[in-house]
Amino acid sequence: MNFMVNACQAMKDADQAQANHYQAQLVVNMYEHDNELIIEFRDNGKGMDEAICNSIFEPFFTTKSEGQGVGLGLAISYGIIERHGERIDVNAEPDKGSMFSIYLPPTEAT
Ligand SMILES: Nc1ncnc2c1ncn2[C@@H]1O[C@H](COP(=O)(O)OP(=O)(O)O)[C@@H](O)[C@H]1O
Ligand SMILES: [Mg+2]
Repeated sequence: MNFMVNACQAMKDADQAQANHYQAQLVVNMYEHDNELIIEFRDNGKGMDEAICNSIFEPFFTTKSEGQGVGLGLAISYGIIERHGERIDVNAEPDKGSMFSIYLPPTEAT
C-alpha cells in the first residue's frame, strides 16, 4: 500500500510539473530470479535524486508538506521487510521515476 501511495503522490507531482501529455504509469511486477521472488513497483513520477534516495528509509524523513506525509511509511516498510529476511532496493532518477524492488528469499522446505 505504502509503495503505491508514494508512487501516486510522485506521479501527481510530475503531472503538475509537466502539465501536457503526461500519463501516469505504475507497474507492479512479480517474477522469480535466481531462486528469489522479486516484487517491483515502478512509477514514472517525479523520481528522486541521490541525496533523497540515501535518506528515504530514515524515520520521519519526508519531502512532503505538512499533512501530506510524516515520513514513516518507508521506515516501517523497511523494518517489516528486514524482519522477514528480505531485501529492498531502490532505483530512481529525478524527473524520470522510481523503482522499488523487494527480494523474497525462498522459504525452506519442511
Ligand atoms: N515512488 C516515489 N517517488 C518519488 N519519491 C518517493 C517515492 N517513494 C518515496 N519517495 C520519497 O521518500 C520519502 C519518504 O517516504 P515515506 O517514508 O513513505 O514517507 P512520506 O510518504 O510520509 O513522505 C517521500 O517523502 C519521498 O520524498
Ligand atoms: Mg509514504
